[in-house]
Amino acid sequence: MGQSLPKPALRPYLASDTAMLAQIFVAAIHELTGDDYNEAQQQAWAVAAEDEDAFGNRLAGELTLIATVQNSPVGFASLRGNETIDMLYVHPSVAGQGVGAMLVDALERLAGARGAKTLSVDASDTAIDFFRKRGYVARQRNSVPRHGEWLANTTMQKQLSPSAGASS
Ligand SMILES: CC(C)(COP(=O)(O)OP(=O)(O)OC[C@H]1O[C@@H](n2cnc3c(N)ncnc32)[C@H](O)[C@@H]1OP(=O)(O)O)[C@@H](O)C(=O)NCCC(=O)NCCS
Repeated sequence: MGQSLPKPALRPYLASDTAMLAQIFVAAIHELTGDDYNEAQQQAWAVAAEDEDAFGNRLAGELTLIATVQNSPVGFASLRGNETIDMLYVHPSVAGQGVGAMLVDALERLAGARGAKTLSVDASDTAIDFFRKRGYVARQRNSVPRHGEWLANTTMQKQLSPSAGASS
């Protein structure tokens, strides 16, 4: 946590963000998850951004929020339906400076405002402690096949308070 980051802003995803978000996705996997996944697993995970059209369709099909610093995307998170966090990726250059927390705070408020009582995530092993600190509880351990590799994650769930949609 060396230099401090100017306060990030949040905005909705635009189709023109796709290439930049694909870069953030790949960089976050390769540079932040190495303690938990080997190179072959990271490679298999990162394949999801290779087909940019498919990646863009996934981002557009969910409620995707982007954190920006000086108008440049530095991280993104997406809500699938009202009750599931699908993606959460922060660029390694700003990791550990509150960007992930800001994104998930916003998704929790949006989910609460849409009437969700709980929020779930299939958390990577890298993100388990991040989510645990925010009150998510491990429900189930999973092993998911991806391009010839098996990747472990943990389904975690948080009860949203009734006022989650209204609180700041
Ligand atoms: C997980 C991830 C999104 C966290 O983003 P971030 O911006 O670095 O997180 P923040 O700075 O907002 O951290 C918030 C809190 O979680 C903690 N935290 C973050 N990453 C952590 C980690 N890997 N292990 C333990 N604690 C972690 C921080 O120390 C901080 O704690 P504090 O509130 O006590 O200071 C980021 O590491 C990432 O992109 N990882 C790779 C991709 C990935 O695994 N995504 C999750 C898919 S479900």
